[in-house]
Amino acid sequence: MSRIAALLETLAPIGRNEQGGYDRLAWTDADAAMRAWFLAEATDLGLETEVDRNGNLWAHWRLRPGAGLIVGSHLDSVPNGGPLDGPLGIASAFAAIRSLQEAGASPGSTVSVVAFVDEEGGRFGLACLGSRLLTGAVDPERARALVDRDGVRLDDAMRAAGLDPDALGPEPERVRGSYLELHVEQGHLPVDGSGAAGLAAAGAPLGVLTGIWPHGRWRIDLPGQANHAGTTPMADRDDPVVRAAAVVLAAREAALAEDALATVGRIDVEPGAVNAIAGRASLWLDVRGPDEARIRRVVDAVAAVAGVAPTEESWTGETAFAAEDARPLPAVIRELTGADAPTLPSGAGHDAGVLRAAGASVAMLAVRNPSGISHAPGESAELPDIELGVAALALVMQRVSAYSVQA
Ligand code: GLV
Ligand code: MN
Ligand code: MN
Repeated sequence: MSRIAALLETLAPIGRNEQGGYDRLAWTDADAAMRAWFLAEATDLGLETEVDRNGNLWAHWRLRPGAGLIVGSHLDSVPNGGPLDGPLGIASAFAAIRSLQEAGASPGSTVSVVAFVDEEGGRFGLACLGSRLLTGAVDPERARALVDRDGVRLDDAMRAAGLDPDALGPEPERVRGSYLELHVEQGHLPVDGSGAAGLAAAGAPLGVLTGIWPHGRWRIDLPGQANHAGTTPMADRDDPVVRAAAVVLAAREAALAEDALATVGRIDVEPGAVNAIAGRASLWLDVRGPDEARIRRVVDAVAAVAGVAPTEESWTGETAFAAEDARPLPAVIRELTGADAPTLPSGAGHDAGVLRAAGASVAMLAVRNPSGISHAPGESAELPDIELGVAALALVMQRVSAYSVQA
């Protein structure tokens, strides 16, 4: 069994639920088990580990002064997520380091592996929290006060996990080097210049991501009049769930009209009783697309139907990765596959986007996902493609970090 196959096998039971999906939300027991796995694997590789003030995990191979190469991703998942979104990037980095060590290689500059905490925002609602805190893109005070569905504050959750939330704050000097993230492909976005939708259609196991579509999350609170289901005439009702249904349909219609993507993936209804008209419905709207203008038009259309202004809980502008930052990747992919590296955008958000917005040098490598399914149990990639991804990481590490091979 290859090293990466073995690593993925050790991760397989962590946070797995009865539906075959993964619940690895930030600062839960499953997240703690993932973090313990990271520290144990890194130690086994002889890497120097540390937890930064925001809870991000680092493992350094030969810590030396000056900029190095940072390879990373995240260990958390969305509720009932897939096995690969996040952990694949970390496990691949560890497997690549192992293969270089076994070949007797030693980096001339630092190679670090990072696991950013709470990338999905699956528990506290704000995605890429670890990288946003690191780069100063979010105020620590706001982060500490985020609450989950059970009313647990982020600072209390961190404390319960043994971290000090009062230490949260920016450390931009940590990302002076180049950041490279390997990620399972998500969806089947258009491959540049080929007319193909996704890497499978393009016949390519690996692709280079060119950037991230702009995206945001909005909360819409719809008040109503709570009342008895058996006594209130239909004509007299002020039912927020009926308005919520209209909002969901409006979001779909506006997204179709704008060629954008709109999702209402969470609706909370209070009090949530079968025999009571709700007193309040809250919806969370996620909108993405190739440019900001169409996203804003979708949100405006939804706001007009909702009759209230949606609260913007997060916004990430369009992120374009620089071709020169991805410089070693095309040659490495050509070397491994014998073909030019396809390039394509990402519709999913990533810590790489936050780092790029903060001025870091960033590149992303995608591994073919035949179904395109992600954020769901069906997320997958074939082992040979994953192994090619590991080989690509190892080659990039070698090129960027001026390796010496011991005799
Ligand atoms: C994170 O994966 C997101 O795109 O929401
Ligand atoms: Mn991810
Ligand atoms: Mn994700």
